[in-house]
Amino acid sequence: MKILVTGGAGFIGCNFVYYMLDKHTDYKIVCLDSLTYAGNLRSLEKAMENPNFKFIKGSISDKELVNKVFEEEQFDIVVNFAAESHVDRSIENPFIFLETNVMGTACLLDASKKYGVKRFHQVSTDEVYGDLPLDRPDLFFTEDLPLTASSPYSASKASADLLTLAFHRTYGLPVTVSRCSNNYGPYQFPEKLIPLMIVRAQENQSLPVYGQGLNVRDWLYVDDHCKAIDMIIHNGKVGEVYNVGGHNEKRNIDVVKTILSQLGKPEELITYVKDRAGHDLRYAIDPTKISDELGWHPETAFDDGMKKTIQWYLDNTAWTDEIKSGEYAEYSKRIYG
Ligand code: NAD
Ligand code: TYD
Repeated sequence: MKILVTGGAGFIGCNFVYYMLDKHTDYKIVCLDSLTYAGNLRSLEKAMENPNFKFIKGSISDKELVNKVFEEEQFDIVVNFAAESHVDRSIENPFIFLETNVMGTACLLDASKKYGVKRFHQVSTDEVYGDLPLDRPDLFFTEDLPLTASSPYSASKASADLLTLAFHRTYGLPVTVSRCSNNYGPYQFPEKLIPLMIVRAQENQSLPVYGQGLNVRDWLYVDDHCKAIDMIIHNGKVGEVYNVGGHNEKRNIDVVKTILSQLGKPEELITYVKDRAGHDLRYAIDPTKISDELGWHPETAFDDGMKKTIQWYLDNTAWTDEIKSGEYAEYSKRIYG
């Protein structure tokens, strides 16, 4: 079995590469990644030592390159993680989100059709459902909800999600889609809430909480997401969408306080800053379908996952230091002062 993992130098992609190399020791994994600011070859250092792994630098929107890679490699399965993934950056500049998330996905779908890929899996997000109100804890995202998006990021992901389903309906391409809630764990770029707060708290910098910190996200440890995708590409039904989430809703402010308490840092570091434009209030996944059909259940409790994650960032300061010295330094200064 040969699998193309796009965006494998990013957070979830690299965790998925390690998960698959470990679980399926006879599979070949090829990673295609253009190494944007969010892609880091250091995250794949250990995979590079495995003869079953190969890295190709290139963009999913480069049609010629994508076709060449598909022709040469003859993939059985494609798992598309590659994306511009940060909501705040999409608010600053939406266009690269359309280029990568929409046009890039279109290129991959087209090549998958041309070269007879047996399964195309689109890694979508729960953000394609828009948001839920804070005062209706009885409401959850289910797969049959219409898609509606709040940010340029989620609009571009919703487009890619629909395009994937359209390739199934129109051309019979064997696709699956997963819509997962917020992930956390090792190798996450420190612009996202959890690693941002860990890295800043370690350095006694202020912790910028948007609005009043009351927005709710449904957190899932990254390995549980990788396990879900592995199950879907092997046993999921073609043409189907699977929600992935572990009923683990937390208010942002509570997540930040957990990090401070685990690091032994004072809550005075918290600074309430201007709210994000169009800020989604609450995400909450109903995972009944994937648990009933495929037997998926999350394995990592939030407390354990947070301990592992914080420890990983404490043990890997070289990884974050390198990031902080690059393009991110400029972004961080622009956004947080
Ligand atoms: P990330 O930003 O950490 O990584 C994205 C990777 O894609 C990087 O390695 C980057 O170099 C690569 N990339 C960007 N543009 C590319 C292009 N044109 N061609 C090839 N590679 C390109 O993102 P992540 O958090 O790992 O998210 C991975 C996927 O999972 C995304 O599609 C995202 O929408 C989805 N998702 C993320 C979460 C989450 O909580 N992080 C939750 C649900 C779904
Ligand atoms: P983020 O990690 O960007 O994920 P997403 O917006 O895709 O869910 O943000 C998670 C939550 O944390 C979101 O409600 C916005 C909030 N947040 C802050 O309060 N401060 C920050 O500096 C960041 C990056 C996010």
